[in-house]
Amino acid sequence: MKKIYIGTNWKMMMTTEEGVDYTKKVMELEEFLHDHIQLFVIPSYTSLASIHEVLKDSSILMGAQNMHWEEKGAFTGEISPRMLKETGVNVVELGHSERRQYFNEKDEDINKKVKAALHYAMTPLVCVGENWEEKESGLSVGTLRKQIETCLNGLSAEQVKNVWIAYEPVWAIGEKGKPASADYVADIHQEIRSILVQLFGTQAYDIPLLFGGSVNTENFLGYLRKDQVDGLFIGRAAWELASFEAILKEVNRLN
Ligand code: PGA
Repeated sequence: MKKIYIGTNWKMMMTTEEGVDYTKKVMELEEFLHDHIQLFVIPSYTSLASIHEVLKDSSILMGAQNMHWEEKGAFTGEISPRMLKETGVNVVELGHSERRQYFNEKDEDINKKVKAALHYAMTPLVCVGENWEEKESGLSVGTLRKQIETCLNGLSAEQVKNVWIAYEPVWAIGEKGKPASADYVADIHQEIRSILVQLFGTQAYDIPLLFGGSVNTENFLGYLRKDQVDGLFIGRAAWELASFEAILKEVNRLN
């Protein structure tokens, strides 16, 4: 049975108190999930220690939303891989479109962060995705190829097995996002897989490919039913516990 990854990035939404409460409720839901469903939550930095404490006997993984690549140094306001590791972080989300758009994060920076995360035995969750203009100009696959080549540059085939990728088309994310069709997502995931196999060989079949962007209670099953989709990376529909619960219950029924 294929492993299914379901996770949520909280962005800058929850306080520690809210996050702890949310996590406890998700843990109650998780008890009823099959073992092949891997949940993960990605709180704000300020909540990581408290959420780690809540999750200590759980198989839910905890991620961070960003990270600097240096181990330490004079980088005011930044958080290093060593600090995240110490806090109990398992997964580091890198290159979300909001980081690229508002904080000018480049594929070259993401590449350094991917290597730093791997060095500290944390899983880099690398977000890639084209914007609307690129999609409409037929440049989706070319954009993704460039992002993947640069973000994963210099990794060995052995290392790449420890990377997760989230395909998150910029035009599908957030309040103004348009949900992508399941067929479109399956085609793009197929393209991403073949780019990865060209770059890293058959080890690239081990990389989980998650989809994110306006995933909701209406459309999530369509994505998950596609063989090319290994999981979902959910924003708004996961922050609402009722809709997250509805999604998880259905996912649990899938074979
Ligand atoms: P959304 O966010 O599900 O609210 O569109 C997705 C994301 O930004 O990863």
